[in-house]
Amino acid sequence: MIKIKNISKKFFIKNNEVQALNKINLLIEEKDCFAVVGESGSGKTTLANIILGIYQQDEGDISFFEKQLFKKRNLEERKLIQYVQQNPMSTLNPKKTIFSTISLPLKIHKIVKKDEIEERVKKLLSYVGLNPEFMVRYPDTLSGGQKQRVAIARALAAEPKVLILDEPTSALDVIVQSKVLNLLLKIKKEFDLTYIFITHDLSVVRNIANKVVVMNKGEIEESGETKEVFLHPKSQYTRDLIKAIPTVTDKEDAVKPK
Ligand SMILES: Nc1ncnc2c1ncn2[C@@H]1O[C@H](COP(=O)(O)OP(=O)(O)OP(=O)(O)O)[C@@H](O)[C@H]1O
Ligand SMILES: [Mg+2]
Repeated sequence: MIKIKNISKKFFIKNNEVQALNKINLLIEEKDCFAVVGESGSGKTTLANIILGIYQQDEGDISFFEKQLFKKRNLEERKLIQYVQQNPMSTLNPKKTIFSTISLPLKIHKIVKKDEIEERVKKLLSYVGLNPEFMVRYPDTLSGGQKQRVAIARALAAEPKVLILDEPTSALDVIVQSKVLNLLLKIKKEFDLTYIFITHDLSVVRNIANKVVVMNKGEIEESGETKEVFLHPKSQYTRDLIKAIPTVTDKEDAVKPK
């Protein structure tokens, strides 16, 4: 579905150059929950930004359903791949009501007729577990978890095929994290979505991702079926990452590499 071929990206800051991605190859298939893990600075967000057309890669190609994606996207391409970021405060416009935030993609992508917009916004809010009365509110009157639900509703409004989730729960407390994760799982099933799920939380990976790629300094350390990577990691780097996951039960401990 999404084929990433030989993608590289360098950044220049003053006289320093950073190879954020170095010849990355990945195949994301329909309905995958594809986790992207790796320490801070390993290139995860850069990869997301290239898939979204926010950044231009220096080399390599991306294709979506066998069609090459360029940085400049048409409306349909923009509609089909949506983004939920780590910090909802920085992505929700503080000057816009929740209604206007969620109705924007409905209008841009002409998802429903004009007189059906309000009804659809209400429906989207209820999907993400928010009361319709949230429509008239502004982002700064919402809790972190509620803001993230709004960001998810906005992403869903466009009726995408793929959601790129960049640490969607890391700014939230543990209980809210698990509620938002459950919501994401429910939505994935209901709408047959494909997820590219960037996270630091390897227990999340183990519980929800069917595939995983481990990034290290802009390169792929290894990738494959989550079960396989967790049970038989090929590299010491991955082994150390997995061993560092806190476990609560013996059952969880049993699926760690020795
Ligand atoms: N716009 C930019 N300009 C310059 N350097 C950048 C830019 N974006 C990313 N980088 C650099 O590229 C490297 C990869 O960054 P990236 O944000 O992709 O990492 P990450 O894996 O998402 O990290 P984190 O887990 O902390 O979010 C880092 O060294 C970062 O400093
Ligand atoms: Mg990042």
